[in-house]
Amino acid sequence: MKAAVLYEPESPFVIEDVTLQEPGPGEVLIQMVASGVCHSDWHVVTGATQHPLPVVLGHEGAGIVETVGEGVTRVEPGDHVILNWAPDCGECFYCLHGKPNLCEAFLGPVWAGTMLDGTTRLSVDGETVYHFSGLATFAEQAVVPEQTCVSIRKDAPLKAASLVGCAVTTGVCVTTNTVQVRPGDSVVVYGCGGVGLNVLQGAVLCGAETIIAVDRAPAKMDLAKEFGATDTLMAGDDTVEAIKDLTGGRGADYAFEAIGIPAVQEGALEAVRPGGTLVLAGLAPMGTSTNFPGAILVRQEKNVVGSYYGTANTRRDFPMILDLYMAGKLRLDELISREYTLDEINEAYEAMLSGQVARGVIVFE
Ligand SMILES: NC(=O)c1ccc[n+]([C@@H]2O[C@H](COP(=O)([O-])OP(=O)(O)OC[C@H]3O[C@@H](n4cnc5c(N)ncnc54)[C@H](O)[C@@H]3O)[C@@H](O)[C@H]2O)c1
Ligand SMILES: [Zn+2]
Ligand SMILES: [Zn+2]
Repeated sequence: MKAAVLYEPESPFVIEDVTLQEPGPGEVLIQMVASGVCHSDWHVVTGATQHPLPVVLGHEGAGIVETVGEGVTRVEPGDHVILNWAPDCGECFYCLHGKPNLCEAFLGPVWAGTMLDGTTRLSVDGETVYHFSGLATFAEQAVVPEQTCVSIRKDAPLKAASLVGCAVTTGVCVTTNTVQVRPGDSVVVYGCGGVGLNVLQGAVLCGAETIIAVDRAPAKMDLAKEFGATDTLMAGDDTVEAIKDLTGGRGADYAFEAIGIPAVQEGALEAVRPGGTLVLAGLAPMGTSTNFPGAILVRQEKNVVGSYYGTANTRRDFPMILDLYMAGKLRLDELISREYTLDEINEAYEAMLSGQVARGVIVFE
C-alpha cells in the first residue's frame, strides 16, 4: 500500500510502497477514507515533538473497518470509524476519574511508535517503520489497536468525520469540557487554524457574546468571522489593548491559545480579566517553558489550564459532535478548504504553514 513516510526531521514526506502486516490480536485493519492535515504531525517534522523515525504520521482520520484481529469486540468489518489518537483503557486512575484523555495505560507503546504489544506492523524493504499515535493515517490502510476505534453513524460523510478525530473535538470540547464557557461570556482565540476555528464555533455553541479572533494571516480574518468571531484582530503589539477595548476595559473571561508559541501564551494572559482563565491548547515544543508572573496570578486570581484533546471522552464526544454537525449546528464541511491526494501531502503542509487553509484533508480513493 501507499503511505507517506518521514525519514528524517526537516525533510519532505516520501510516498513509498509500504508493507502492512495483518492485524494481530486486538487490532483492526482500517481502509482509510480521509485524513486531516494537523499541525501536530508537523511538530514531528520540525523536531519540536520527538518521535522514533522513520514514521508514518497522521492522527486525524476516519475510515471503514476491513478486517479485525482475534478477540476484537469493539468493531466489526463494515463499521465506519473515527480514530482516537489517545486510546483509553477504561480502568486506570484517569479513566476512572473521568479523564480518559489522560489515560496512562498505553502511553509507552504509543510514544514508542508501536502497537500495544511493542511491535510495528509497517516496514519498507524489511526495515521497521513506526506508527504515529498508534494510527499512522497518512496511508491507504492502517492497522490500529481496537481501543482507538470509535464507531459512528453510517449516514455521516467520512471526510467531515475525519476532522472530528482531532481539530474539531479539541477545539469544541475545550469550550465545553476543559472549561465551560457560558452564555454572555467574552472569549478571545489566538490562532485560527483547524483547532482555533473550532474553538470559535464551540464558543458560539456555548452562547458566548463577544468572540474575538487573533491571527497573523490576513486570510484568517474572514474565515474566523464565518466560524463565529464577532471581532477579528491581526496579531501585533496592540492586541491586548484592542481586546480590553472590546471587553469593557477588563479583558476577556477566557483566552484560548491554539498556536503553541510560549511568547503568545504569555501575551494571552494579559488579555484575560482578573478572575478569568487562559486555556492552553497549542502544543509548544518539547523542552520549552512558558513564563507566567506568579505575582499577577495571585493578586488577580487568574487561572491557567492546559487542555489535551479538549478533555474529551472520545467514545461519548465523537458521536455527539457528529450529531451536532448532522443537525446543522457545527460547520465541518466549511472547514475543508482543500482536498489533496496522498501524493500532494507536502503541498498540503505548505498551504497549512502559510495560513491559506482552514483545514486541508487528504482523501483516499
Ligand atoms: N491540545 C491538543 O490536544 C491539540 C490537538 C491538536 C492540535 N494541537 C496543537 O494546536 C496548535 C494548532 O494546531 P492547528 O492544526 O490548528 O494549526 P494550524 O497551523 O492550522 O493553525 C495555526 C494558526 O496560528 C496562526 N499563527 C501562527 N503563528 C502565529 C502568531 N505568532 N500569532 C498569531 N497567529 C499565529 C497561523 O496563521 C494559523 O492560522 C498546534 O500547536 C497543534 O500541535 C493541540
Ligand atoms: Zn485508562
Ligand atoms: Zn491533531
